[in-house]
Amino acid sequence: MKINENTLLEGQKVVLVPYNEEHVPRYHEWMKSPELQQLTASEPLSLEQEYDMQRSWRDDNDKCTFIILDKQRWADPSVEEEQCMLGDVNIFLTDPTDLSVAELEIMIAEPSYRGRGVGKEVTSMMMSYGVAKLGIKKFQAKIGLDNQVSVAMFKKLRFNEVSVCDVFREVTLELTVDESVRATLQDDVVYMKERDYRQTCSSRHELFSQ
Ligand SMILES: CC(C)(COP(=O)(O)OP(=O)(O)OC[C@H]1O[C@@H](n2cnc3c(N)ncnc32)[C@H](O)[C@@H]1OP(=O)(O)O)[C@@H](O)C(=O)NCCC(=O)NCCS
Repeated sequence: MKINENTLLEGQKVVLVPYNEEHVPRYHEWMKSPELQQLTASEPLSLEQEYDMQRSWRDDNDKCTFIILDKQRWADPSVEEEQCMLGDVNIFLTDPTDLSVAELEIMIAEPSYRGRGVGKEVTSMMMSYGVAKLGIKKFQAKIGLDNQVSVAMFKKLRFNEVSVCDVFREVTLELTVDESVRATLQDDVVYMKERDYRQTCSSRHELFSQ
């Protein structure tokens, strides 16, 4: 999706930036991990396939992707952006007849960043963006039955379990965005700022001085 190609979302612990070509090598390294393949139900891709995937995530109208960066590291302009990457977050519009339904996926690829509130912050930021900019009215998450951490996180974020598929060993959770959810989401990420990505890149260090 092109809508976020120059969008930076600033949170407390993270900044979300569009998934660009320069992020692909690190992303490709992550996805060699059998643990991540299993947790995210992904197949390993060649580097070329990963570049193709990045282009499709950028260009296809049904996908919106951000790369998650460690905000503190990124604020140091001497650190390359690739070195600040810690995961990614996606919205997929799964129903071509109803563009207000979205599947949400998140991956904190770097294990040292898990369990520190990053997943919750990023998911809330992405939902808030999805509601405000894409008009999403229902979020879904499909999670492996063994991935109890992810299930617990989505339940913490007010998702409800709606079905279990024993064949795919997958649970589906949903959150319908009514007025109360919309208001709570806004409160959860009241600090979130949307910035111009390219402009902010050239003055990263100023993030902490504002
Ligand atoms: C699942 C994942 C996104 C959670 O993100 P995270 O940053 O580790 O989670 P957070 O620290 O924000 O915690 C969010 C909630 O998850 C639950 N949680 C986190 N770590 C947990 C653990 N070790 N055991 C049980 N529950 C846990 C808690 O409910 C927590 O809320 P709380 O801190 O208010 O109690 C992240 O661990 C991850 O990406 N793992 C690998 C890939 C993956 O599984 N992706 C999801 C595929 S659908």
